[in-house]
Amino acid sequence: MSSSLFITLIALGIIGGLAFFVSAGFRGSGKAKDIAPNLSKYRNDDELETKTLDRTLTVAVLLASLLTIMIPLYYLGEQNRQQEFVVEFDEVSVERGEHLYEEFGCGNCHGVDGSGGAASYVEKRSGISVTWEAPAINNVFFRYDDDEVRYWLIYGRANSPMPAWGLEGGGPMNDGQLDDLIEYMHHFQIPQNEELATIDANINSSLLRLETSELLVENEIARQKELIQSVKDSPTKLPVVQKAVEDVSALLSKEGGIDTDEDGLSDSVEVDISTYSANINEILGTSILNLDPDNEESIPGRKDKSVANGFLSQLESELINITIISEGYDKFLNEAETGLAFLEKALEEKLWEVSFDEIADSTFEGDIEKAKRAVGLFNAYCARCHTAGYSAGVAYTKEIASGGLGPALRAGRVNIQFKQREDFIDFIIKGSVNGKAYGVNGVGGGKMPGFGAVLPQSDIELIIDYLRGMEPDA
Ligand code: HEC
Ligand code: HEC
Repeated sequence: MSSSLFITLIALGIIGGLAFFVSAGFRGSGKAKDIAPNLSKYRNDDELETKTLDRTLTVAVLLASLLTIMIPLYYLGEQNRQQEFVVEFDEVSVERGEHLYEEFGCGNCHGVDGSGGAASYVEKRSGISVTWEAPAINNVFFRYDDDEVRYWLIYGRANSPMPAWGLEGGGPMNDGQLDDLIEYMHHFQIPQNEELATIDANINSSLLRLETSELLVENEIARQKELIQSVKDSPTKLPVVQKAVEDVSALLSKEGGIDTDEDGLSDSVEVDISTYSANINEILGTSILNLDPDNEESIPGRKDKSVANGFLSQLESELINITIISEGYDKFLNEAETGLAFLEKALEEKLWEVSFDEIADSTFEGDIEKAKRAVGLFNAYCARCHTAGYSAGVAYTKEIASGGLGPALRAGRVNIQFKQREDFIDFIIKGSVNGKAYGVNGVGGGKMPGFGAVLPQSDIELIIDYLRGMEPDA
């Protein structure tokens, strides 16, 4: 029996009772009452002890039997009802969690479906604003348990774009909200077979990144040079853009004149503003307008008037930009040049490079494919925490396994921590547990994920043999 039926029955009972009392009040109200009830004669003892008593007792027995039936019936439904409550509670919690995920913009960095994304961040060594990779979290419970995920949510990840979300970490969410968020994150996890199916693609993209590293840094250097040039140009551009904002505003507020296409801009304004945009394009790089006085939508689907207004807004925001840059000219130029020097040094040193030949020879009996897969796996699954700068992009990457959020692993360091290969494998499968010892000197912080549910043991062994085989630095 559902609780709503039960409530309906009780409600009916209450209404019935009220109706009884009200009707009792009206009963007999029409008759004249000469004698007050306390003075009038009532039923005698015989009558009271037989008929009336019998009737009352019968009603009592009937009601008691009804209760005897109702209570077990209610009890029988109890377990179901409780389960329904749990399900209902979970659903509401997931809904609230989804709301938090949207409200706090997790999706902006991790993707709306949690499949990973990126965030803009100022890289600490170079001072350059970079695109920092944000990991997928639609698979996060394969590597962390609830408490570990909660830790990252509460405290965020300092030295990265991931903010602290819990009150204890200085963020906005209380415990209940974190519960809801975690509940929701469970809700959008992908199945394990889907996670395992991404391994090869992950390896390939990390290997591709190695192949194209030089090109990526060269592109970044070119961008940085453009930035420097635009800082240098700002003093000459400033008066031009100031005048352009004035001139274009004046043109747009001009009234009267023939307006063939009747779009609110006179023919002469359409021609003048187009010529003007072409003239300043060379200096400012702003858009060129081609407004046709005979056509109210010179660009199909966009009214000429709104195109012209958009042009003015473009000039206005350019003015704000250039004003800020020219006011802080020395600071901006200095920062941009330091950044360029950093990138040029990175291109020269190429610290991201690895030699598959050497790795194959020293560790995998000359098997280049194994060497490649081992490096690809390490970069795809470990580098974001164990190689400095990896998430910021290739130009910021120090030597592979140089240490980041997690300790340095290169140069055979792992052999100091793990005497036995088996212990090492076990650690990578399970990850660290907060406060629990690992290896020879390690104490886990719960921050090293477990990879047992993400990678097959053969791949884990490849990574481990690669790390164990690294020569100590000279
Ligand atoms: C401004 C971007 C940004 C926002 C917003 C953001 N994150 Fe993150 N988050 C990151 C980055 C970047 C990392 C990885 C940091 C690193 O490189 O070590 C991360 C890491 C994490 C991790 C750890 C995953 C792992 O395997 O290391 C979890 C869990 C997480 N975020 C969940 C969330 C949730 C839930 C929200 C919303 C409440 C959120 N994040 C909002 C950028 C963001
Ligand atoms: C989300 C970040 C993160 C990722 C990804 C990660 N680790 Fe770690 N790792 C850590 C942290 C942090 C520690 C330190 C222990 C702790 O705090 O739990 C650690 C510890 C270790 C240690 C012990 C080092 C020592 O000297 O004590 C080894 C070995 C290791 N990780 C290997 C790996 C390998 C191999 C991978 C990839 C399969 C990997 N880690 C992926 C964060 C990470």
